[in-house]
Amino acid sequence: MQAYYALGLEQERLAGPHLLEWVRTCELLERHLPPAPATLLDVGGGPGAYAVWLSRAGYAVHLVDPIPSHVARAVAAAAAEGAELATATVGDARALAAADNCADAALLLGPLYHLQDRRERLRALAEARRVTRPGGVVVAAAISRYASTIDGLLRGFFDQDGFEDIVIGVLADGRHRNPTRNPNWFTTAYFHHPDELRAEITETGLVLLALVAVEGVGVALTDVHARLADPRRRERLLRAIRRLEEEPTLLGATGHLLAVARA
Ligand SMILES: C[S@@+](CC[C@H](N)C(=O)[O-])C[C@H]1O[C@@H](n2cnc3c(N)ncnc32)[C@H](O)[C@@H]1O
Repeated sequence: MQAYYALGLEQERLAGPHLLEWVRTCELLERHLPPAPATLLDVGGGPGAYAVWLSRAGYAVHLVDPIPSHVARAVAAAAAEGAELATATVGDARALAAADNCADAALLLGPLYHLQDRRERLRALAEARRVTRPGGVVVAAAISRYASTIDGLLRGFFDQDGFEDIVIGVLADGRHRNPTRNPNWFTTAYFHHPDELRAEITETGLVLLALVAVEGVGVALTDVHARLADPRRRERLLRAIRRLEEEPTLLGATGHLLAVARA
């Protein structure tokens, strides 16, 4: 994971191939977060895309990430946008330095899909619950078990040696391993079945409020940038995704899942 993120690809990800993830995640955060001003912990905040956006919206955002270059980039990105993060520190979702009940909401938009061991994912969720005040909100992202099959078909990866074996491994146990180190094929990760994410949230003692597909039925669009650039087509696309975002028979057919829970 360290070597993968050292490539510095994360900074541009949400504006490029993952623009729909960004737009939908922003929409879901606006819907579910307590209104600003409020205190947020962005755990696994990476180079700060959401942290900067939320700071500009009036939240006090504390960003935590284990990759020092991500933390430094987040601070620089905030400064470039005329925003300021409340704090930005190197740390791990499994053992947060923050005090009990210090946040109105905690975001885990990354850690759960980098922890292959279920006990470690439960620790990360328990930490998010601990630092969030009772009644506050925990928002956790996961990558769908089926994301690499969809992405592999769309982007032609199945035509390259080695990719199908990676997908077969994921379908067997959720563990995504990339021994080829081809950066298009991501890094060591865990891809959830929606039922697993639901179970992990409730086992932590969090109250699940919503489990939604982020890209949902828009996941396989090849012209998503053009659609999002046109205001009318954008709204039609987002309404289509929204209508089916919680449809149980479609939940896994997405890139990302988002669980929203009450602490
Ligand atoms: C794909 S990036 C997502 C960054 C940002 N949250 C977003 O959604 O754009 C995943 C992030 O999770 C972080 N991460 C991985 N394992 C973690 C852990 N154990 N604790 C906290 N963050 C972790 C990585 O360093 C990386 O910055």
